[in-house]
Amino acid sequence: MHESASDSAVSGPQAGRYTEARGSDMKICIIGASGKLGQYMTQHALDRGYEVVGVCRTQSVPKLERFAERITIVPGPTNDPEVIAQAVRGCDGVLTVLAPWGMDDYASGTAQAVLDHAEPRARLVFSCGWHITRDGKDVYSIKLKALVKIGGFFARLARVVDLDDQVEACNRIFASDSRWTVVRGSDLEEGPSEGVPVWSRHVGDPILQSNRTRRTDFALFMVDAVTNDALVQEAPAIVSRTSPSAQRHAS
Ligand SMILES: NC(=O)c1ccc[n+]([C@@H]2O[C@H](COP(=O)([O-])OP(=O)(O)OC[C@H]3O[C@@H](n4cnc5c(N)ncnc54)[C@H](OP(=O)(O)O)[C@@H]3O)[C@@H](O)[C@H]2O)c1
Repeated sequence: MHESASDSAVSGPQAGRYTEARGSDMKICIIGASGKLGQYMTQHALDRGYEVVGVCRTQSVPKLERFAERITIVPGPTNDPEVIAQAVRGCDGVLTVLAPWGMDDYASGTAQAVLDHAEPRARLVFSCGWHITRDGKDVYSIKLKALVKIGGFFARLARVVDLDDQVEACNRIFASDSRWTVVRGSDLEEGPSEGVPVWSRHVGDPILQSNRTRRTDFALFMVDAVTNDALVQEAPAIVSRTSPSAQRHAS
């Protein structure tokens, strides 16, 4: 894989400019640590020898039991500025799961709390889906457009999920001059790792056509991004490096 200077740059993880990973010197905060993505990120961060602080809702603390001896847990709502301020203090990297749950601006509140309270030089890495666009140049399939429009409408009607708030969260991040990365996940599946995914700037680029990533590798990309300076102020859309579309591009 390579990095190109074109508007639709495609990159493999090796192509980035990596800052020196400082192993156990690195302190990482994972916001939304108890979810599926959060637990994978916690494991990957521990595997790298990082010190980990995890934030999750109080009722979800038992989901982190297997990590209890190895991480610091800060229980509380992730959109609570006081919870976030306490958790991110002294952290070199903050990995945030942006989830559009509920109708009380949970995603944008979470993003804002991280932007307001993270250390000024910290790497901030956020997760979301392909439906988020930074510059409007993404090209979406009819299926994805219908899913976002119809699914989003009914989820909002049922007051369960507010996709617009995830959009608002990302717009605030894009407008920030902090050292952010917004990682846009394709359709996710479970299974063993296939390696760090490859990425492109725009959904619709041929390399992304397969539209599938293992959830553990989404987490791997997020953790990897903390030390990859080439991803600062980028919104990579990712796909499995072993998927047919990535393989076609590689060859
Ligand atoms: N699912 C997909 O197919 C897919 C595809 C592309 C991108 N993504 C992105 O991947 C990330 C992780 O998504 P995921 O589907 O894999 O889920 P996940 O990792 O299980 O994360 C869901 C998060 O939302 C929290 N949550 C659940 N219900 C909540 C509620 N009612 N109020 C507040 N928080 C609540 C969970 O916390 P608790 O542990 O406390 O419940 C957890 O932190 C998201 O950023 C998503 O946009 C997902």
